[in-house]
Amino acid sequence: MNDVTPDARSSGILSMIVKATNLSMVGRVIRQFLSSSPALYYEDLGYDILESGKTASAGNSVTLWQNCGYWQGDSTYEGACENLARKVGEVATLDESEATLDVGFGFGEQDLFWAQNFKVGRIVGVNISPFQVEFATARIRHAGLGDRLSCIVGDAVQLDLADESFDRVIALQSAMHFNTRSDYFREAYRVLKPNGRLVMADMILKSGKRPRFSLWAAFTRRRVGWSGKNVYDAAEYERLLREAGFSNIEIEDISDNVFPGMREYITRRYRGEVSSGIRVNASTADRASGVGLWRFHYGVDSYVIVRATKGAQIEH
Ligand SMILES: C[S@@+](CC[C@H](N)C(=O)[O-])C[C@H]1O[C@@H](n2cnc3c(N)ncnc32)[C@H](O)[C@@H]1O
Repeated sequence: MNDVTPDARSSGILSMIVKATNLSMVGRVIRQFLSSSPALYYEDLGYDILESGKTASAGNSVTLWQNCGYWQGDSTYEGACENLARKVGEVATLDESEATLDVGFGFGEQDLFWAQNFKVGRIVGVNISPFQVEFATARIRHAGLGDRLSCIVGDAVQLDLADESFDRVIALQSAMHFNTRSDYFREAYRVLKPNGRLVMADMILKSGKRPRFSLWAAFTRRRVGWSGKNVYDAAEYERLLREAGFSNIEIEDISDNVFPGMREYITRRYRGEVSSGIRVNASTADRASGVGLWRFHYGVDSYVIVRATKGAQIEH
């Protein structure tokens, strides 16, 4: 005799599904931790920064940005990410005559944005994730920009590109993943033409701070493929750039316009709000908890825009 009521049976099935989901999530986290590969992490992440499902296609307008945004003058996630890409594009002085290398381009949002808003002549994107390269290539083709934009699979620290072939080399919130960032500086220097410009949006430690060990941050960084060797402050960042040969180095801390807004956005996403419906009021977002979130999870607390030149120091 079966004495299980339909209600009990369905709640049993429900709890099994919940357990299976959690188990597969635990399995995924373990796999990510063991491989410590950003390619695997971003493939698992899929088309949405919070794993809400693989709903995007090359042709639709779902936002595929994967950065923290610059929360000033726009309250949407997409707008904040565009703001950050615009800021990076301005610092890089992108224009139509330049050949630009974009390292770690996600799903290619920024390249489409720069092609359309800065009229950049040619952008080559390099990304360690074959999944993202395939998807970005389809989007570029769909946008009819295949003559100006191209994407290849590759590692930032071993670029399969000719010496002195680019006027600009950019890494928009990706250099913290490069193993190591200072090896990337040497590669970027090699592929840049003389007087070419290197620009990064990146995450580091506040000036004067030294890395402090946290088991949780070490675990999280390893899981997303972010080497502990990349955790240092602006002075060390500048020293490593100089060591690679760069000059005219400027490092601007924009943390207050990044972390608080992004924290509010992701908190609301985790509560179940859909991305397109969220409006963040950056002026009331909590600054301390914004920075605290990144310090806790990744052991960094400063979001910077960095520029440097391949060439002789210009005296001011
Ligand atoms: C946080 S996402 C940023 C994506 C994009 N720039 C944006 O703003 O939306 C980091 C990107 O860096 C890429 N990446 C990580 N390590 C890399 C490496 N060693 N070489 C090239 N790309 C890498 C990842 O695959 C991912 O696309």
